[in-house]
Amino acid sequence: MLKDFTFHNPTKIYFGKKSLDKLKGELTNYGETVLLIYGKNAIKSMGLYDQVTAILKDAGKKVVELSGVMPNPTYAKLMEGVRLVKANKVSLILAVGGGSVIDCAKGIAVSAYCDEDPFEKYWLGYKSLANETVPVASILTMVGTGSEMNGGSVITHEEMKVKAGRVFPVAAYPRFSILNPEYTFSVPSYQMVSGVFDTMSHLMEQYFSGDDNNTTDYIIEGLMRSSIDNTRQALNNPEDYESRSNLMWNATLALNTVTGLSKAQDWQVHMIEHQLGAYTDCAHGMGLAAISLPYYRHIYAYGLDKFVRFATQVWGISPEGKAKEETAREGINAMEKFMNECSIVTSLKELGATKEMLPQIAESTVILKGGYKSLTPGEILGILEACF
Ligand code: NZQ
Ligand code: ZN
Repeated sequence: MLKDFTFHNPTKIYFGKKSLDKLKGELTNYGETVLLIYGKNAIKSMGLYDQVTAILKDAGKKVVELSGVMPNPTYAKLMEGVRLVKANKVSLILAVGGGSVIDCAKGIAVSAYCDEDPFEKYWLGYKSLANETVPVASILTMVGTGSEMNGGSVITHEEMKVKAGRVFPVAAYPRFSILNPEYTFSVPSYQMVSGVFDTMSHLMEQYFSGDDNNTTDYIIEGLMRSSIDNTRQALNNPEDYESRSNLMWNATLALNTVTGLSKAQDWQVHMIEHQLGAYTDCAHGMGLAAISLPYYRHIYAYGLDKFVRFATQVWGISPEGKAKEETAREGINAMEKFMNECSIVTSLKELGATKEMLPQIAESTVILKGGYKSLTPGEILGILEACF
């Protein structure tokens, strides 16, 4: 059954090879000064930086830049952006990059005119967004997070050793996002499969909860199957437009709230990964992958019918003559096989964790109640040890 819901996503998406052509027209909706925010080298080596700055110049904009936004963006970097916004009266923040750059842009947008410490107020305190928010827009170059069409902003406070995610209301969603799959051709395969697993994990976090027969679950199954098929195709040929375009749109749909409608949601794997990331700075999707295998093996019996459905509908496992438990386990095994096929990392050691870190990660992980089983810190430690 679909429970009552409100769906409102205001982000305008320009998708395709010519989508950058829409930027100039969009810029007329905003004031004089644009904060252009990006990562380290990617957008310059792709030639995208030159194209975007030429369009900004042509539109008569004054441009201020914040470069060097790192994967797992830090609060210190966010505050650098806050100072630039205030000093230059910025009227649009244009993020060009992956989830880290877009998350940092949204973080700056909500923090610039916040009178208190923004991290304490919004990321730790989860207080309502009441202050003025600077408009954000994005040009996406790396697929996975869905940040281009949602209110999420995940920020790492290095001194506190906390990586905290906050989903902001629609005022912080990108006003528009430009998605050209060709921009992702240069993403190295390690980053690409990390992004794919992030998409898969967003889908599983929403799928493995509740037991309604719900249209949302059918949408999720389709997106998972598309992600699996198109990953294989893109790994064979990184410049294959068909697979890159499908992977890009899958990732956007996987976290633009459509796939969470009317569902309880889990998100425990993400909570564990965030603290793993705070300690190791690992690629987000790789951290999720490593944790997912022992996590789902630990909880599948509590949501058995859904794990059977996952095995049969997503991985094509036949349930004929098998106990439900066996079918469910075969589904998780099929996911592991796919991960190995794509060289997705499944060991925390390989992601930079040490044995000593594990209890600290387990103790500092936020525990949620939306999944099939609410964990204790001891169970989280067991999961971390199992994928060490
Ligand atoms: O720094 P540059 O040179 O730009 O290189 C980046 C970076 O090193 C590179 N890259 C990006 N586009 C490229 C490219 N390299 C070659 N060609 C291109 N076209 O990729 C590296 C990783 O980029 P990053 O933005 O960090 O990756 P991702 O998109 O996976 O973002 C991860 C961050 O998003 C958060 C994660 O926790 C993590 O901090 N998340 C945000 C969410 C949201 N807003 O809703 C939800 C997610 O669950 C996630 O937590
Ligand atoms: Zn994620």
